[in-house]
Amino acid sequence: MNRNHTILGRREVLHSTLALGATALATPGVFAELLQTPPQTEGPFYPNQMPLDTDNDLLVINDSITPAVGEITHLSGRILDRKGNPVRNAFVEIWQVDNHAVYLHTDDKTNRASQDTNFQGYGRFLTDSKGHYYFRTIKPVPYPGRTPHIHFAISQGGKRTLTTQLYVKGHPGNARDRLLQGIDAKARETVLRDFAPLKNSSIGELAVDFDIVLGGTASEGEDGKMHGIGQSQWRRRQTRRNDR
Ligand SMILES: [Fe+2]
Repeated sequence: MNRNHTILGRREVLHSTLALGATALATPGVFAELLQTPPQTEGPFYPNQMPLDTDNDLLVINDSITPAVGEITHLSGRILDRKGNPVRNAFVEIWQVDNHAVYLHTDDKTNRASQDTNFQGYGRFLTDSKGHYYFRTIKPVPYPGRTPHIHFAISQGGKRTLTTQLYVKGHPGNARDRLLQGIDAKARETVLRDFAPLKNSSIGELAVDFDIVLGGTASEGEDGKMHGIGQSQWRRRQTRRNDR
């Protein structure tokens, strides 16, 4: 598939999840338990009004001919349990500021006038049988008080199981970010990822690979039911939404 164009067709975007699959981080049964991706606050700007389009291509809203501004980033990875088993049918949501640092939230008043109305700001993806997800978005930019990040929420069976954030490895703002530095050093590494140039891209696209490890060993079995985690554990893992 030729990725050297600015606007991928909708079907191509969806199928890119297979081409840009995550690294072979874990082989079930071979390694010790994986380090859990640390939970992070949801923050105040999970969209209060969903965009007209909630697909996994944040660069284009519906059939608009004008894409969002920003460094095009192909963001993919897998949702895994701690044993390295892929979690299928996990509901993955991301949200982030546009290239002018504006959230898709009416309470985000900073720079509101310069909002990029072509940026979707939020997207969803349901993982496939190998636990893969894929989004096309922009490289996040800083906003006052925060280093660049992309918010993630993972839900299974209608319950939120992890809320976290992905950061740009090597960004100078990371050292000053209270939320990022609040994670212990080993776990912090698991949310820092390279936004690397996409091979053979003539327009400077980036690719980032971010596997997410859920805290339990819950996974959806062939019968479509959740296994390996109880309701009380689900509840304990709900991120405290009123944190900053
Ligand atoms: Fe944020």
